[in-house]
Amino acid sequence: MSPAGSPGTRGARPPAAVDRPRRLAWEVLRAVDERGSYANLLLPSLLAGSGLPARDRGFVTELAYGALRAQGTLDGLLDTATSRPVRDIDPPLRDALRLGAYQLLRTRVPARAAVASTVDLVRATSGERPIRFANAVMRRVAARIAESGGDLAQLLGAPRFDADPIGHLAVVNAHPRWIVEVVAEVLGDDLDETRAALAADDERPAVHLVARPGRTDRERLLAEAAQEGLVAAPGLYSPFAVRLDGGDPGRLPTVASGLAAVQDEGSQLVALALARTATVGRDRGLTVDLCAGPGGKAALLAGLLTDRSGAGPEPASVSEPAPPSGAALGAGASLLALEPRATRAGLVARSLAGEPRAWVVRADGRAAPLPAGSADRVLVDVPCTGLGALRRRPEARWRRIPGDLAALVPLQSALLVAALDLVRPGGVVAYATCSPHPAETVEVVRQVTGQRADTSVLDARLALPEVDALGSGPFVQLWPHRHGTDAMFMALLRRNQN
Ligand SMILES: C[S@@+](CC[C@H](N)C(=O)[O-])C[C@H]1O[C@@H](n2cnc3c(N)ncnc32)[C@H](O)[C@@H]1O
Repeated sequence: MSPAGSPGTRGARPPAAVDRPRRLAWEVLRAVDERGSYANLLLPSLLAGSGLPARDRGFVTELAYGALRAQGTLDGLLDTATSRPVRDIDPPLRDALRLGAYQLLRTRVPARAAVASTVDLVRATSGERPIRFANAVMRRVAARIAESGGDLAQLLGAPRFDADPIGHLAVVNAHPRWIVEVVAEVLGDDLDETRAALAADDERPAVHLVARPGRTDRERLLAEAAQEGLVAAPGLYSPFAVRLDGGDPGRLPTVASGLAAVQDEGSQLVALALARTATVGRDRGLTVDLCAGPGGKAALLAGLLTDRSGAGPEPASVSEPAPPSGAALGAGASLLALEPRATRAGLVARSLAGEPRAWVVRADGRAAPLPAGSADRVLVDVPCTGLGALRRRPEARWRRIPGDLAALVPLQSALLVAALDLVRPGGVVAYATCSPHPAETVEVVRQVTGQRADTSVLDARLALPEVDALGSGPFVQLWPHRHGTDAMFMALLRRNQN
């Protein structure tokens, strides 16, 4: 990235005065584009060190997240205003133009201010040379938007809804076509609901907190939120959930001390459903989380299923790769969390800190260092495309491609096979993804269970009687537009007894 005062800005003009919110938003777009950064991880730290007032921080967030979410649409719009294909424009300049187009298309910033501030941003970050080009493109975009009279479909050259509904929804709702096809397929080709699901990806999600059972409760969380002036309400389904309407959850003492944490209510429901599902036969008290990082579900499972009497809280540490001894595991209900990546295993240990009967092992879930048939319950929350969390990861919809599934599906299947081998007859496996894509949800489960006579598919909806609109089963598919959660998928499976 070229800073203000770079060679291009030397000469007659003084360095352009760029307002800091736009500059920060541009830096986020550059980091995502250039270094593959995740906006939802980068932006909070940039804002924290910015010293900007809350209103300006809100504007940065709106610009950066909005432009990333709408990127495909913005590029389509820019393409109508320049003879040079957008993909060939110098990336720093292209990101400034995207921010400008976003302001014109989706915000109340007056057109003149959006054009002028974009030109200033281009001057400060790319120098004088592209100024005329940037100015002309922005003016043309502004004129097109004005001429269209708000008809987004016409402005963006979207196909007519009756001729190509998927193509129409893709352009108007700023999603790649393949994702719209997936959503429509899973929603039974209900196009109104598909539209609602796509729109939900663009809404600012509430922050969900979990009050860790046995450590705190949600009444305390709600009281702390009220004390801090944050708008909070109990979650809709999970007895441990609180939904915050904005604000920094780190300000709450129970969150700061790890007694509560940020966790989507959908993830809480997965852990809750596994904990609630009865095993058949005698439990030995071992729950295994086969893909644990960063440890949110593991921490909730530890609270729900492990024995906390007796031993005082010991911080969980990561063992590589030897598991705790059978004697240690057998001394009371316990949780073993596996995670192959060192940093993420460290995060799991942090979320399990204070749990007396939880262990973290750095290992591949396909080669768990445990005897076959030794676990009562296994959670296998597999690595996936993350298409169910698009509202939290603004750039993800354009970064993901259908080809990603080619590597993920075999890994997901192998991990599910490993989970079924690890659970004892009568024990239960929860297979979860943060994605509604059938290739990594229903099809993985059907393909694996179709080859195993020792496994039954349970009706997962029965484990969550308080949750409505779960469809025809036997699987659970949550949705942002129906449940206000991420689009988590869950299957519950039982190893049959002989
Ligand atoms: C969807 S995340 C799990 C989220 C976690 N259950 C939670 O609630 O915080 C999937 C995790 O699987 C891990 N993973 C990737 N390959 C794996 C493998 N072969 N065995 C076990 N875990 C794996 C990833 O590093 C990632 O941390």
